[in-house]
Amino acid sequence: MKERYEAVLNNNPTGKKSLAELPKALVPGREAYLKSCIECHQADGKGVADTFPPLLNSSWVRSNPDTLLRIMLGGLMGPVEVAGVQYNSAMPGHSHASDEELASVASYVRFAFGGLKEQPISPEQVRALRPETEARKFNPWTVSELKNAAK
Ligand code: HEC
Repeated sequence: MKERYEAVLNNNPTGKKSLAELPKALVPGREAYLKSCIECHQADGKGVADTFPPLLNSSWVRSNPDTLLRIMLGGLMGPVEVAGVQYNSAMPGHSHASDEELASVASYVRFAFGGLKEQPISPEQVRALRPETEARKFNPWTVSELKNAAK
């Protein structure tokens, strides 16, 4: 775990190099990220070339928080452009995780990979999107559906 933490810290765009400098509120989010997202998006958020898109400097991470939460809850499939590169794969949803856990991951991801210094995402924001995810029968989103949902 320690090496993973160090890999995250050494690569994060905020320039925060030590655990002590990560805002305390975001520590659980980093732990949950290391558990649920790292295998594909990697500790440094750079993903894996041609396979898993990056979260680092991704407009999907930086824009509407609900869009990020929708992807996390429902998953994503089909063509998607991330930082100028096309991917066409599928990500499984994480609706099995609690509101608290998903909120904490989203807050960490927006801070560490999006460089956003905002109020953390709240569990209520996650809870509000659950009925919609259930109505979709947990089918992964497509890019056009996400754009419509964000209107
Ligand atoms: C099993 C591998 C896998 C896991 C685990 C995973 N993802 Fe993904 N993720 C993907 C793939 C593949 C895509 C692109 C899907 C496509 O091509 O439509 C993606 C796309 C995304 C996107 C939109 C594109 C981008 O890169 O910004 C976001 C945001 C995202 N994932 C966040 C997360 C977060 C946060 C977690 C942890 C809760 C997570 N993912 C867990 C594989 C994964």
